Amino acid sequence: MTTATKSDLEVIPLTNHIGAEMRGLDMTKPLSDEDIEAINEAFLKHLVIVFRDQKLTQEDLLRVTAYFGPVGHMRRPPKYFPPGFDKILPNIMLITNIRENGEPIGALPDGEMMFHHDMIHSANPDAGTMLYSVEVPTWGGDTLFASGYAAYDTLDPALRNKLEGKRARHFYNYGSVVKGDGKGTEAFGESLHPFFRTHDQTGKKAIYVNRLMTVGIEGMDDTEAQPILDHVFDHMEKPEFIYAHKWQVGDILLWDNRCSTHARTDFPADQRRLMLRTTVECAKPPY
Ligand code: SIN
Repeated sequence: MTTATKSDLEVIPLTNHIGAEMRGLDMTKPLSDEDIEAINEAFLKHLVIVFRDQKLTQEDLLRVTAYFGPVGHMRRPPKYFPPGFDKILPNIMLITNIRENGEPIGALPDGEMMFHHDMIHSANPDAGTMLYSVEVPTWGGDTLFASGYAAYDTLDPALRNKLEGKRARHFYNYGSVVKGDGKGTEAFGESLHPFFRTHDQTGKKAIYVNRLMTVGIEGMDDTEAQPILDHVFDHMEKPEFIYAHKWQVGDILLWDNRCSTHARTDFPADQRRLMLRTTVECAKPPY
């Protein structure tokens, strides 16, 4: 059901558990306090917010990101920046498969990507991510979002009790889009976070592990932990918990990294895809 907010923005839910489109906004103009409040409210309720038909400069993207909290900084050391990062403003990540002299100019260039939370391998992962589409392929390259709340609420109670209070270990090699693909060269970092994360703003619990970056459970040997993790990943990625976003040029998505995971579907290697990504810092680490 479509609802109007205090600011007259329309909120159109996209699935039962996750995703809403907001209409009535031109992000090239400064947003009013009422609009920002309405977006924040919808963001906490729907986890992923879609804005269509925007035409932003990089400065606009940074300004819009900052409405939702301090803009996150790039965590990877500059020596690992792809060459295209020189041409964009600081704290914007260029995600693209475009190549110069055979080398991708941006991060996460090619194909399918497993479900993950951005930066879960760091001590305080960013709370939110914004992704703005500049060029899209004719098919594929969809971004899929899964609700960690819905997965938590429906997890087998016996398994939930077994995992309650435990922490999971996360690790990431940048460049990797599929676990074990050997594309990463060096670890960004390693972290331990609660298996179930309590959201610092909603107070709700979400499953906080993912297929790409989670490598173990604290205090459990891998022969016991891996089948449990595989079972939990399969549960989290059930179609009923997912919103699949088909990109059009000019889309901006804002998603909540504390309670949702996302993945990317394959797309043709000979078609260009170019996105600009920013993040919003989290006021409170997961533990
Ligand atoms: C990301 O995981 O930040 C990138 C997702 C995408 O390219 O669709």
